[in-house]
Amino acid sequence: MERTPVGIILNGVTGRMGYRQHLVRSLLAIRDQGGVPARDGSRIWPELTLVGRDAGRLAEIAERYGLSAYTTDLDAALADDAHQIYFDAQVTAAREKAIRAAIEAGKHVYTEKPLAEDFLASLELARLAAAKGVRNGVVQDKLFLPGLRKLKRLVDGGFFGRILSVRGEFGYWVFEGDWQAAQRPSWNYRAEDGGGITLDMFPHWHYVLEQIIAPVTAVTAVIATHIPERVDENGGHYRATADDAAYGIFELAGGIVAQINSSWAVRVHRDELVEFQVDGTHGSAVAGLRDCRIQHRGTTPMPVWNPDLPVTEPFRAQWQTVPDNGEHDNAFKVQWEAFLRHVVDDEPFPWDFLAGARGVQLAEAGLRSAREGRRVQIEEIPR
Ligand SMILES: NC(=O)c1ccc[n+]([C@@H]2O[C@H](COP(=O)([O-])OP(=O)(O)OC[C@H]3O[C@@H](n4cnc5c(N)ncnc54)[C@H](O)[C@@H]3O)[C@@H](O)[C@H]2O)c1
Repeated sequence: MERTPVGIILNGVTGRMGYRQHLVRSLLAIRDQGGVPARDGSRIWPELTLVGRDAGRLAEIAERYGLSAYTTDLDAALADDAHQIYFDAQVTAAREKAIRAAIEAGKHVYTEKPLAEDFLASLELARLAAAKGVRNGVVQDKLFLPGLRKLKRLVDGGFFGRILSVRGEFGYWVFEGDWQAAQRPSWNYRAEDGGGITLDMFPHWHYVLEQIIAPVTAVTAVIATHIPERVDENGGHYRATADDAAYGIFELAGGIVAQINSSWAVRVHRDELVEFQVDGTHGSAVAGLRDCRIQHRGTTPMPVWNPDLPVTEPFRAQWQTVPDNGEHDNAFKVQWEAFLRHVVDDEPFPWDFLAGARGVQLAEAGLRSAREGRRVQIEEIPR
């Protein structure tokens, strides 16, 4: 089958997301399946160039997967016409500068979220990309997860009637790093390095709410740094300057209220690491990353409050499982395939820099709400 090669610069490929989700589970998996079908009958074929700061680690990864192109010189990679796409999975704080350079070099840009550390910078990147006429996209992986796809299917099918509210619970215990190693990189807990759970998670909640339920119109948040000191990758103690928990109330168009707790200082008593319960006049659903359960108004029990008696109903057993009704591939890979078709075949790709900027806008509004102790309205971004 004829190939349409697309040169991709992958920056931050030694990191958790860059390596596992984007290189291995997405782009190498796309090559393993023989590329992505293009409209002209050929297969879009990712040609990968790994970029990072440590040549030794890049060489190791390249060798492991039979790749030959890697460099520590981003500028040189950007100057090379063989590359059409720049992808960024670096730490958040390093992203804006690299993306600016990539746009300037005329590359199409795809990036991890958050697009930048603040809203103005994100908006500026969206404007620069539009002015230069390059394709642009931001990872919004949760939309492509089986649990949330099933939730979207329920919304599209009118299952809920009028949606009233959403309650989301995200989080798990991230070890402090002293008596057990922390399972997340330490920069996440330092504000000066682009860390913080609000900046990390509110962009996700923004697109989940906007694209599955309704656009966010206002936010009220309380944030906390519950664990003030942690131990880093080298065993050094450091002060956690970033928030590790964010308790948000999001007002959505149509009078829907969404409350989402995000925390790295909570222990899991749930079925999945994130769960959203959506209640509507005709039915309710609880969606996680993979599964989704529903309860229709016709099967809703009538509990009566009486603390003198033991619980009379097996509440969890009264929900039904939503079937898969199809294959669900890796969420990052599905979005990569869409971006490649966007670049090669001009297929629609709504998850662009402007969408990413709206996510950062919500994070910033949440932080302001917490700082000033007030509700913050979300201004519409003029196109
Ligand atoms: N979509 C998601 O679900 C999701 C999940 C986790 C993280 N992320 C995002 O992915 C990005 C990377 O997160 P991660 O957890 O993989 O982090 P990580 O620390 O594991 O990896 C970061 C990468 O950036 C590089 N890097 C580190 N410091 C740098 C510096 N000062 N300058 C340039 N490069 C540097 C590292 O070498 C590494 O390749 C972040 O922006 C984060 O918000 C997204």
